[in-house]
Amino acid sequence: MQDLSQLIAEAKSAFAQATAPAALEDAKAKFLGKTGSLTAMMKGLAKLSHEEKREMGQALGTAKREIEQALEARREELANEKLAARLAAEALDVTLPGRKAEKGGVHPVIATQMRIEQIFRSIGFDVADGPEIETDWYSFTALNNPPNHPARSMQDTFYVELKDETGKLLPLRPHTSPMQVRYARTHKAPIKVIAPGRTYRVDSDATHSPMFHQVEGLWIGENVSFSDLKGVYTDFLRRFFETDDLVVRFRPSYFPFTEPSVEVDMMFTSGPKKGRWLEISGAGEVHPNVVRNFGLDPETHVGFAFGSGLERLTMLRYGIDDLRLFFEGDLRFLKQFNR
Ligand code: PHE
Repeated sequence: MQDLSQLIAEAKSAFAQATAPAALEDAKAKFLGKTGSLTAMMKGLAKLSHEEKREMGQALGTAKREIEQALEARREELANEKLAARLAAEALDVTLPGRKAEKGGVHPVIATQMRIEQIFRSIGFDVADGPEIETDWYSFTALNNPPNHPARSMQDTFYVELKDETGKLLPLRPHTSPMQVRYARTHKAPIKVIAPGRTYRVDSDATHSPMFHQVEGLWIGENVSFSDLKGVYTDFLRRFFETDDLVVRFRPSYFPFTEPSVEVDMMFTSGPKKGRWLEISGAGEVHPNVVRNFGLDPETHVGFAFGSGLERLTMLRYGIDDLRLFFEGDLRFLKQFNR
């Protein structure tokens, strides 16, 4: 009969060499399995005498328990190793800085819009919003710009493939001026409103984008004069640019919906941008035909309107010279406005 202590040592060393659960179970079979060496010895007991059987049986039982314990211990060890490996693989480095949720910011052009709304609200203007897909009538005809009038080609307009009830294609509004008519027809005079928003023209270069923003202004009352336009607009520019060091001039121009019509130019009289006239807005006294389309009598209701480009105002405020920067979505550019 084989030396039992040697057998135990062999089993322990076989278990120790098994580095994975499957190998350990194979090693177990060699000793404790149906054809294992310990099992064979157990079977051999039958041939022994009563006395020998008792003695040998006890020794084999002890050896079996010892091997089983070694097996169990190794099983546990392997399971622990597996868990430890998994923990190591899935380890979290809690000292790493987390991934921050980036904070969004207000686009510089929208920041300009918000500033303008605040300035005009403070002097009693309402703020209105209107559709970007307009009708031909609100965009042109109601603004004293009848079909086939040459002034229609002042704006190279986009159209969408939808028609109004008269069969005309619907334009994307080329300016915010349709809001003069929409607002005036739905509100009681006196009318004091600004209407900022997106506008569209077939135009694209460093200072023009096919989509851009305007703010329309309209003040209609019983005697709102051209000097009110001068005062309101000049005061607005001073507040917007936060300086009194600017001068404004009203240069004669033409729009079908105003008479007289002007382009508003401004010039800084101090600072790095001083000394150059910059065109900033179209404006004028609202044409009597347009006042009629408001549903008002031009004999009793007069006033001014203006339309200014928000990109232009933003570029002047921050000294930006390429308008396309506003629409490229480059965060290196945009982040500078949200510190
Ligand atoms: N709508 C004109 C434009 O887009 C600007 C304007 C508005 C002029 C109101 C006069 C009065 O060019």
